Amino acid sequence: MNVTETIRQRYSVRGFRPDPVPESIIREVIDVARLAPSASNTQPWHVAVVSGEARRRLQAAILEEIDAGKAPYPGFPPGGAGLQGDYKRRQYACAFGYYGTMGIARDDLDARRVLGRKNWEFFGAPHAAFLSMPGTMNRGNALDVGIFMQSIMLLFAERGIGCCPQGALAHYPDPVRAVASIPEGNVILCGLSFGYEAPGERINQVRMPREALDTVASFVS
Ligand SMILES: Cc1cc2nc3c(=O)[nH]c(=O)nc-3n(C[C@H](O)[C@H](O)[C@H](O)COP(=O)(O)O)c2cc1C
Repeated sequence: MNVTETIRQRYSVRGFRPDPVPESIIREVIDVARLAPSASNTQPWHVAVVSGEARRRLQAAILEEIDAGKAPYPGFPPGGAGLQGDYKRRQYACAFGYYGTMGIARDDLDARRVLGRKNWEFFGAPHAAFLSMPGTMNRGNALDVGIFMQSIMLLFAERGIGCCPQGALAHYPDPVRAVASIPEGNVILCGLSFGYEAPGERINQVRMPREALDTVASFVS
């Protein structure tokens, strides 16, 4: 696959086979992704990968917080908060497109809650990764982390490994800190569940539309 094909073919995978990705491949992907550009070459990113028994313990610890009724407490304001206008419209279209593919009615709040909870089950993926940067940094540095994360996602796609970026994995950071190896002073921006895609799962048929070129770009000469 070349870069164009990889970008065209990638989509968020939310249904996984249980077999792990060999650690050598995970390390190779991150080793390439760390070549991503960043402002003043600060490289503010860190990625903490959690697999195996640690992944199982982490899922249990996060779900314990959720089941205890704890409200989300992300370290940075979440990307989906306070959206307006076209952005709010796209956010709703994304949610209802997702529920539609899953055969969930808009007013079926129980089914929506069960589906939402799968975020913290890592959608059954054998691995979860947590992207963080120093808490003293700002949105400009978050751009660098985003470039790093997209590099990881494309390198995974090129190798036939599926993944789902998840802001939801930044919502309950305490158990993540207790299990994953996050640098002191870093704050989690986003998570990424990954592994090999399970064939035939309905959740992997979700496809999201994009705005037209002339909506997202303007050209002046
Ligand atoms: C920063 C970021 C946070 C996201 N958070 C979540 C999430 O918490 N849960 C989820 O299921 N998908 C999440 N997504 C996936 C988006 O819904 C998805 O990328 C978008 O709808 C486009 O679909 P595609 O990735 O299949 O092309 C997130 C994506 C990004 C880039």
